[in-house]
Amino acid sequence: MDLRNLEVLAIHKYPEHMEECCKLINDEWPRSETARMMMLQASCDTLPTSLILIRDRTLVLGHCKLTRIPNIPESCFLETVVISKKFRGQKLGSFLMTKVEEYCKNELKLTMVHLSTKGQENFYSKLGYSVCAPVSIYGYSQQPLQSINKNYSNENIVAKPVPKENTSVRVNIPPPPPPPPINNGIIPISTLKSSKTYMSKVL
Ligand SMILES: CC(C)(COP(=O)(O)OP(=O)(O)OC[C@H]1O[C@@H](n2cnc3c(N)ncnc32)[C@H](O)[C@@H]1OP(=O)(O)O)[C@@H](O)C(=O)NCCC(=O)NCCS
Repeated sequence: MDLRNLEVLAIHKYPEHMEECCKLINDEWPRSETARMMMLQASCDTLPTSLILIRDRTLVLGHCKLTRIPNIPESCFLETVVISKKFRGQKLGSFLMTKVEEYCKNELKLTMVHLSTKGQENFYSKLGYSVCAPVSIYGYSQQPLQSINKNYSNENIVAKPVPKENTSVRVNIPPPPPPPPINNGIIPISTLKSSKTYMSKVL
């Protein structure tokens, strides 16, 4: 394969390739076409972004989606990495990943990337990725949840003053709050259990 005819482009700038890309992805991971198209249509400059590998601006050969990681703003999560079945084993996956990393570094000004995989560890380790702790793209915090703990603080329980002349009036104290989250709001890594291998690379 002549790599000179290949480009990696943001799909929202070339929406005419969305349907072809949708088919390519669904050929690997079958899913409703509507849902898949919605994922691709969500692509934008500021993440999520879908990048496609395309030959001669006509044939879509691969795809990779970049998603924000709420707790790691200097990185993004690479997912739905796929090369068209007929074209695997020709270094196109490596080419796509290299261009995706360049995009992350030069366009998004990120300093690292994360991903998870089940079975493609070798492919990624050859590209310089190493195993890391699980990360979440859904905003689970691994920091203490200060705001939640604040709400559970006794400072927020305000008792009505007891009138001096009638001590028999009952103080209207609200019921106690629910117990604070276990482990001071830190969600331990073990609760983000997954059979996947998480990997990262410094750019
Ligand atoms: C994984 C995938 C993107 C690789 O694309 P590709 O174009 O076939 O990969 P390359 O030709 O660039 O391979 C680069 C190297 O990785 C190796 N490699 C590729 N896929 C591999 C795999 N599944 N297991 C082990 N090694 C693999 C290749 O042998 C090659 O090694 P070499 O440099 O020593 O020759 C492609 O196989 C694919 O789309 N798979 C299905 C979807 C998928 O599983 N995506 C990953 C989700 S995490």
